[in-house]
Amino acid sequence: MTQKTLRAGLIGYGMIGKVHAYATATLPWYAPELPIVGRISAVATSRMETALQAQEQIGCDAAYDDYRRVVEDPSIDVVHVCVPNALHLPVLLAAIKANKRIYCEKPLVVNSKEASVLRDALRDSHYSQANMLAHHLRGFAALRRAKEMIDAGRLGQIIRYRVAYRHSSMLDPTIPWRWKNDASGGSILDLASHLVDLVDWLIGLPAILIAQTSTFVTVRPKRPLKQDESLDDVPRQLVLAEDSVSILTRGLRDANRVVPRIPSSRVFERPEIAGFDPDVMPIAVSDPNKAAAITGMIEATKLASGAEDELELEIGGSQGSLRFSLMNPHYLEYFDARVPFGTYGGDAGWKKIACGARYPSPESDFPSPKSTCGWLRAHVASLAAFYRGIADGKVYGADFEQGLKIQDALSKIAASSHGQFWIDL
Ligand SMILES: NC(=O)c1ccc[n+]([C@@H]2O[C@H](COP(=O)([O-])OP(=O)(O)OC[C@H]3O[C@@H](n4cnc5c(N)ncnc54)[C@H](O)[C@@H]3O)[C@@H](O)[C@H]2O)c1
Repeated sequence: MTQKTLRAGLIGYGMIGKVHAYATATLPWYAPELPIVGRISAVATSRMETALQAQEQIGCDAAYDDYRRVVEDPSIDVVHVCVPNALHLPVLLAAIKANKRIYCEKPLVVNSKEASVLRDALRDSHYSQANMLAHHLRGFAALRRAKEMIDAGRLGQIIRYRVAYRHSSMLDPTIPWRWKNDASGGSILDLASHLVDLVDWLIGLPAILIAQTSTFVTVRPKRPLKQDESLDDVPRQLVLAEDSVSILTRGLRDANRVVPRIPSSRVFERPEIAGFDPDVMPIAVSDPNKAAAITGMIEATKLASGAEDELELEIGGSQGSLRFSLMNPHYLEYFDARVPFGTYGGDAGWKKIACGARYPSPESDFPSPKSTCGWLRAHVASLAAFYRGIADGKVYGADFEQGLKIQDALSKIAASSHGQFWIDL
């Protein structure tokens, strides 16, 4: 099948810009049946030097230190917004004006004033091109399965949820917040943005909430410390970004979200809810003033020692519960509350669903559906060891000698199995 290739322009080539470039370049392998893919044709960063480095690494046609050169180029079909948060709005406005398709990093913009500017621009320009935010958590097979199960009513009425995103990246007081040290950064925009999107996608936004933030480290250096430098050697600044945020929620903003009702003698029903329909049940008691309102806890922090990229999710309903940890992304765990406990437990208990890389068409061909999330990364690391070995004149993995040693052992295993005898290695 021939794939149509759109010309994409990448604005920003820091940590996440590289991820977008990598994803764009590898997409045809992952989804050979997709009718349309992209190719990064131009890149823009804040300095010509870094833009040229990016161009060389990506292998694209053009490099600029002014994003407008990319956005206003009529041959560019898609714009990737990968710049610091405070720059999203100007890039978005320019891309909307140029009527480009847009794939934008989160958060879309940084405050309600910017949101209203963006809303006005979208309305006034009648913009109707494809646009999407890079909320990549929605890409995990296990979280897609969670959504499928909630929508199919497998949890029944949702009673409670707890989602947390924990990093330890700002625990060290010598780490600067960089561009995140103002109202355009912090744990709310950086981490809670993912959680709020996840809660909305899976359950629905709450009707009301109460939040508290904390900034444990109040002064940080303006720039990273060089080797042998101490905090006293570098300029410092007051921290404006919050390290952590904790949010309690009640009810649902959309009171009409329902799921199909799964009949069961053990279903915990709430006939006192106005408008209760025997064939559907509200996904949650949406009225925050009702004692039975759905309650949620959302936590995001960059000060969790020991944490790496720990997203944890737990959703409990009248008929079942789900839980997921990003540190164990192959599996989604499901508890079916309709299965009664029996002697010694019977069949009740948590089930691990092997979600792996089991994506549906057209994303299904590569890698193998059973692949764990790190499987391809391990192949890249293996190939890197091979090339590092060429560069250093050394062997950093299993060479032919090792291969032959293993082959000798395999041959003996085969011989032993045929003759049913013990064999010396
Ligand atoms: N979805 C995710 O998991 C995830 C992870 C990290 C970051 N992000 C988001 O990605 C965005 C960028 O974060 P990052 O960590 O890559 O930042 P970064 O600091 O590593 O990179 C920022 C890039 O933007 C470029 N840039 C800055 N000013 C520019 C300008 N005026 N014109 C053109 N380019 C300019 C810089 O040269 C750099 O290449 C942020 O919005 C962040 O929230 C998302």
